[in-house]
Amino acid sequence: MPTTPAAPSETGPEPLDPVELSVRQPAAAELARSAAHAAGELLAPPTPVRLGDVVPAPELVAPDPAADFLLTEDAVIRVDADPAARDVAEQLAELLRPATGYPLPVTDSATRADGPLVLTLSGAAAPADAAGPAGDDVADGAGAESLGDEGYRLEVTHAEVRITAGTPAGLFHGVQTLRQLLPAAVESAAPVAERWVVPGGAIVDRPRFAYRGAMLDVARHFFGVDDVLRVIDHLARYKLNHLHLHLTDDQGWRIAVDSWPRLTEVGGTTEVGDGPGGWYTKDDYRRIVRYAARRHVTVVPEIDLPGHTNAALVAYPELAPGKIPPPPYTGTEVGFSYVDPADERTYAFVAEVLGEVAALTPGPWLHLGGDEAFKVPADTYRGFIERAQELVAATGKTVVGWHQLAPAGHADGRVLQWWGTNGDDPETADAVRRGARLILSPANHAYVDMKYTAETPIGHDWAGLIDVRRAYDWDPGTHLTGVPAEAVLGVEAPLWTETVTTLAEVEFMLFPRLPAVAELGWSPRSTHDWAAFRDRLAGHGPRWTAAGIAFHPAPEIPWPATPAHRIPTQRSRDDATHTS
Ligand code: ACM
Repeated sequence: MPTTPAAPSETGPEPLDPVELSVRQPAAAELARSAAHAAGELLAPPTPVRLGDVVPAPELVAPDPAADFLLTEDAVIRVDADPAARDVAEQLAELLRPATGYPLPVTDSATRADGPLVLTLSGAAAPADAAGPAGDDVADGAGAESLGDEGYRLEVTHAEVRITAGTPAGLFHGVQTLRQLLPAAVESAAPVAERWVVPGGAIVDRPRFAYRGAMLDVARHFFGVDDVLRVIDHLARYKLNHLHLHLTDDQGWRIAVDSWPRLTEVGGTTEVGDGPGGWYTKDDYRRIVRYAARRHVTVVPEIDLPGHTNAALVAYPELAPGKIPPPPYTGTEVGFSYVDPADERTYAFVAEVLGEVAALTPGPWLHLGGDEAFKVPADTYRGFIERAQELVAATGKTVVGWHQLAPAGHADGRVLQWWGTNGDDPETADAVRRGARLILSPANHAYVDMKYTAETPIGHDWAGLIDVRRAYDWDPGTHLTGVPAEAVLGVEAPLWTETVTTLAEVEFMLFPRLPAVAELGWSPRSTHDWAAFRDRLAGHGPRWTAAGIAFHPAPEIPWPATPAHRIPTQRSRDDATHTS
């Protein structure tokens, strides 16, 4: 069993021993090999980090090797008085304190003029789609007016590290970049003897796509709140800004609904393989949403309709066609269940469930599922989806659904999540012409439940084997025939969990493919280069090792021969101060 991490807090300061630093035991033979490989016993000098070694690749990088910055024990983090900016500064301190052992007080710019870590809001955020080029001259170029909603500017000199952004989200992304520019040992939970050097120069950066996400299927196997919070940390590291939770399926219903309590009391008690299942109380879900929001991640809840509903039908047989109570289902087939589209009680159910989930969800999206309702005739399906889309609109949210929603009438703002394997999809292209936008999750590139190789001990292969290169080598802007890049809202990496049962297995499937998809979502296409990505990614292996993250040691990545981090020592803070 994995060790149980300490629960991270979602509002106040993080504990000094954050959840992401617990080491877990991989569950299968390859996972064990992965950990052994990654945890290598050898001490190696840290590989110097270069300014361009960031994943996802920044838009503009201008190194100045003469301007490296050395973080020392007396460092202070200075931030504008804005509460959300201040919270980003607190999170920077929480990231840096465990490994450095430094106190890193956070101070208000108005009351102190020293730094040397400076976070500043320029107060001039422009909508991302209004942003012009980030500027030719990185040194004096792009002002905050071109950084958009999520961009940032990072300047590193001998004297200071300064992150400037128009928004707290931009500052947060800048902090994730700074984290990657420090030695890998910064991920250690305990103080490490290290020279905390940041390479000199400037980065100006902002995302290509507004929606960058991952999905966790908590229905096939249930994952508790702490596991979900750790996955949110992983998203945030790579500048992903949406967590899609697949909350309901044939094998389990995972979100409490007061008006239909048996959904969880009965439908929450099953999962694939006859494990105990589980569900989130409303407070659990609020905790996830709050934790995500602090990391500038929006939660997208999915209630899969009209198919994938066996758990709901077990709880409420009156929703089943023919009113025949089905047996609980803990296998892995799909497409056999559906709520009765001919019964008005079904629409009351949909309205009440969506209403309660929407009320718990601050983000703008409500995902309706809509996939694999194989037993529902096409006309009936369209009618059901059109009513369900109206019920979403009545909650004030915008519809997201799998691309099977395409034939239904357009609903204002609706977003289709495309999971096909053949980019020639006229039905989806037609829905785009009628106004839909797309999230791209091509199953043969972005489905991180697929095996890496035939030998991968868990995962599927129905969409093919997906090694890191396959996860990386596609272009969301041109992937679908007849769909212009402007219709693409972004990308998402879904993790279905029929075969995934532990947090270590979740991480093993996410790493290193999640950073590949993150780069497609964030980085300008001009940076796309497999060889360069592979080299940048290699430096992240030691980071994951230091953070206790299980990963697949993909043979196509030139991982450092020996980990570029040192074994943590329990040195006192005074000792650490004088490290050289
Ligand atoms: C899906 O993979 N059924 C969306």
